[in-house]
Amino acid sequence: MKTLKDLFLDELADMYDAERRIVKALPKMAKSATSAELKNAIQSHLKETQGHVKKLEQVFQSFDEKAKGQTCEATVGLLEEGDEIAADFKGSPAINAALISAAQKVEHYEMASYGCLHEWAGLLGNIEAAGLLEQILEEEKAANESLTELARASSNEEALGESDEKDAEERADKRSGNLRRGVRPVSASRNRAGSMSR
Ligand SMILES: [Fe+2]
Repeated sequence: MKTLKDLFLDELADMYDAERRIVKALPKMAKSATSAELKNAIQSHLKETQGHVKKLEQVFQSFDEKAKGQTCEATVGLLEEGDEIAADFKGSPAINAALISAAQKVEHYEMASYGCLHEWAGLLGNIEAAGLLEQILEEEKAANESLTELARASSNEEALGESDEKDAEERADKRSGNLRRGVRPVSASRNRAGSMSR
């Protein structure tokens, strides 16, 4: 009969595979980003992710197990979606918002996985493993929060872009019964990053 320890080691092997895939995927993602802040955020998470691989090796060691990965299909799928969205939105003002959304899906998957692994390591009485997994979990949470901040500070607004802004203004004009041919209201949103990026 399979035990909690089996479940733990299974999930650990999944995440070991996931982290190594993420190490390979992040440089490509940084290259696709057009925002300097987003490029930096991805680069610094790449360094953390390399650290996660090492920490997971220590976790295996703390259980007297050899580090081994087993294909994490969820991460494979999430990274494939990330590739697709990056290709679809290449050249669009929404590219950075698209990349952030793809990266956040990966972060949330990792947060869920490390949350469980951390709890289970505690239940299995392995304090060293629980501590290492908690460190990884906290770094994933912080990375996710930085991405949210970046999206809110610039990328989402930039993604709104010129044409979307015009549509939004027209809808607002129609709502207020104010649409007159040839007369466009002066909008404060003209100064947004998306409008300046031409
Ligand atoms: Fe990670």
